[in-house]
Amino acid sequence: MSKVRYGMVGGGEGAFIGAVHRTAAAIAGNWDLVAGAFSSTPDKARRSAAEIGVARGYDSWQDMLAKEASLPADRRIHVVSIVTPNFLHAPVAIAAMEAGFDVVCDKPVADTLEAARAIADAATRTGRRIAITHTYTGYPLVKQARDLVAGAGAVRRVMVKYTQDWLSRAADLENNKQAAWRVDPNRSGEGGAIGDIGTHAFNLVEFITGRRVKSLCAELGSLPGRSLDDDASALLRLEGGGRGMLACSQVCVGDANDLAISVYCDELGLHWRQEEPNSLRVGRRDRPEEIWHAGSNRAYLAPAIRAIQRTPGGHPEGYMEAFANIYHAFGQEVLTGKRAAGAPGYATLEDAIACMKFIHAAKKSSDADAAWIDLTTL
Ligand SMILES: NC(=O)c1ccc[n+]([C@@H]2O[C@H](COP(=O)([O-])OP(=O)(O)OC[C@H]3O[C@@H](n4cnc5c(N)ncnc54)[C@H](O)[C@@H]3O)[C@@H](O)[C@H]2O)c1
Repeated sequence: MSKVRYGMVGGGEGAFIGAVHRTAAAIAGNWDLVAGAFSSTPDKARRSAAEIGVARGYDSWQDMLAKEASLPADRRIHVVSIVTPNFLHAPVAIAAMEAGFDVVCDKPVADTLEAARAIADAATRTGRRIAITHTYTGYPLVKQARDLVAGAGAVRRVMVKYTQDWLSRAADLENNKQAAWRVDPNRSGEGGAIGDIGTHAFNLVEFITGRRVKSLCAELGSLPGRSLDDDASALLRLEGGGRGMLACSQVCVGDANDLAISVYCDELGLHWRQEEPNSLRVGRRDRPEEIWHAGSNRAYLAPAIRAIQRTPGGHPEGYMEAFANIYHAFGQEVLTGKRAAGAPGYATLEDAIACMKFIHAAKKSSDADAAWIDLTTL
């Protein structure tokens, strides 16, 4: 097969991330969208399928899995892409694996740690693959940062922040499809901002340092009347002795998507910011500061990192291309049956479960007046 055939669950009329996944898969070039159950209401699901131009539009995800599984092997989908609110990730992912399909799932992988573990059980039972779309690890200079840190001695300190302002007013919850489920524990899960964007920051720490966070203490807060956190801070202890600070908030006025990370090692410190993703600042004590630029023709970047870029330096790639890199990597694995050497190019279930432990531990810590919680025992 030359392209991965996939079916999407969610991502219909008025949805946000589904269209980003479709664009990313199209940029990746090794995917073909052939089916979808794009909404919870059959009418809207069918209308969305027609608008998107997908012939096999289904009324429900259950219908899609059953009918696709009964098609001949050369027509049916290989992968189900899940872009629904969090509470549906586990039921859809488990049923998809049991029906014989691999899975792409957006983050957080589930609404609770138990549900994430049920996905892991299903993956083991069925032998199916799953990729989780932690978008920011798809950026070339984030991968370069990871390579630099790997050769820079011990990690001493990490500081990461992810701040937004789109929930900073009480009125932001009114008539807002994206906000409605994110502030509802039944649909978002245990975490609010920590699940929605804190997990991206947490995953970035683990990805760039190559180390798991082993314990944390945290304080969560929210504007009056909200059940889930919209603002959080945590102290982190990493495997190998490094320490870290993480802040995430959806009520920081004036910030749009300000994800920024600094990592300090024995030999260097580096700094990357998502809103300016094509430069990476590296400092060393006895040399002038360096600015590394992205671009397929920047000879100083590792060959594998040059290879995932589509344009030479100065023609900026961004969010969609980072997402496309994740789709491309997982698509190649599905097509060839082989995982590429080194980091797989997408967040694994182990990475995603670490994020679920982060959410659970942050909540538990905050409820216990910021007590330290050992993630290794969760
Ligand atoms: N990776 C990222 O950078 C990123 C960014 C945004 C959102 N996300 C994640 O993506 C997921 C969706 O977020 P969003 O902002 O697009 O939400 P959204 O509310 O915009 O879209 C959710 C979609 O799911 C559909 N849906 C709900 N129930 C369904 C059902 N039973 N069957 C089929 N479709 C159903 C809705 O109709 C809607 O189309 C969440 O898990 C979120 O955390 C990830």
